[in-house]
Amino acid sequence: MTIPMHHADLERPDVPALLDRFGRPLRDLRISVTDRCNFRCRYCMPREVFGPSFQFLPREEILTFEEITRLTRVFAGLGVRKVRLTGGEPTLRADLPALVRMLAAIDDLEVTLTTNGSLLAHQAQALADAGLRRITVSLDSLDDAVFRSMNDMDFPVQLVLDGIAAAERAGLAPVKVNAVVRRGVNEHTLLDLARHFKGSGHVLRFIEYMDVGNTNGWRMDEVVPGREVVERISAAMPLVPLEANYRGEVAQRWAYADGSGEVGVITSVTEPFCGDCTRARLTAAGELVTCLFASHGLDLRGRLRDGSSDADLVHVIRGVWSQRDDRYSEIRSAATATLPRLEMSHLGG
Ligand code: GTP
Ligand code: 5AD
Ligand code: SF4
Ligand code: SF4
Repeated sequence: MTIPMHHADLERPDVPALLDRFGRPLRDLRISVTDRCNFRCRYCMPREVFGPSFQFLPREEILTFEEITRLTRVFAGLGVRKVRLTGGEPTLRADLPALVRMLAAIDDLEVTLTTNGSLLAHQAQALADAGLRRITVSLDSLDDAVFRSMNDMDFPVQLVLDGIAAAERAGLAPVKVNAVVRRGVNEHTLLDLARHFKGSGHVLRFIEYMDVGNTNGWRMDEVVPGREVVERISAAMPLVPLEANYRGEVAQRWAYADGSGEVGVITSVTEPFCGDCTRARLTAAGELVTCLFASHGLDLRGRLRDGSSDADLVHVIRGVWSQRDDRYSEIRSAATATLPRLEMSHLGG
């Protein structure tokens, strides 16, 4: 693998870099604000598992906005420069703009959000007013029947498109649009998606279907490699490669040769990017998780609630990150396939 020894370009004189065992600094924090979702995408929350009797976290087990903000300050002190709010579906969390406002007040911190877009038409302006800097909306197909079936809630495409339009009006453009590709499910609708967003100013990214969690019945033959996606688009609308926006960016970027914008692929399965992985995750229940494919996290909520000081929290987080040696996507194999893993909706994508 290509683990860089040193990330000098990311270091700042005022924050001594906290490095893991492979020399990767802690720069991004993905925060799940709820484990609930109003969709039941089959690759994430299949309804046979996440049905009426599924026990979601009770309210008292979920971090409060004050607790999330306190922890985020601590993480910012350790080098985190970007937080991404996720879920479940983050916009289901009551009064989310209030949390965005609290986090946006932390110095040198970019606050971003990944959402299914279903409630965005009503919330985009309030989120932008609260200081949200960027937004990513998931949209797996423009074909209404395919989309309704993939979200398994019969939720129509048009309402998500209305959400993207609202984000644009609120000044959150360019919006990133995420489409998970599954062989035989939505792959025949890729080109339509690409055509729709070409020239729109928004950035569409196709994501390889991943083996996150243990409930989605993932199979390698359902993965459409990012390389194939690029070839298919390029055959119709020629593409040229672009440099990454920043070190460790998960998406490979491609520009339309005619200058009408860009498109990306996220190839966690066929071309892993663990070498530059600077992301920590915080679950809605307050566990610190250092890999998307982890089987467990470290409880921080208990420490937030037992009178531990910020210095105690710093000590614990430093200990976890400095011991980190995760690189799941690079070592994925038949042997790793059977390991227990946290669910995507629990750990925040
Ligand atoms: P920006 O670069 O800030 O736009 O964000 P992002 O692309 O990291 O965030 P987003 O929530 O849109 O994630 C896009 C896809 O990449 C999702 O399917 C994530 O699960 C996946 N992803 C993000 N981070 C990681 C990671 O560390 N490992 C793996 N394997 N996949 C990741
Ligand atoms: N594989 C790839 N992407 C996934 N997402 C959710 N589950 C999976 C999976 N199994 C995507 C969502 C969202 C992003 C945070 O992760 O669609 O865009
Ligand atoms: Fe909900 Fe996103 Fe999971 Fe779909 S992928 S079920 S929208 S959390
Ligand atoms: Fe990071 Fe784990 Fe994803 Fe590799 S598999 S990029 S270590 S989160």
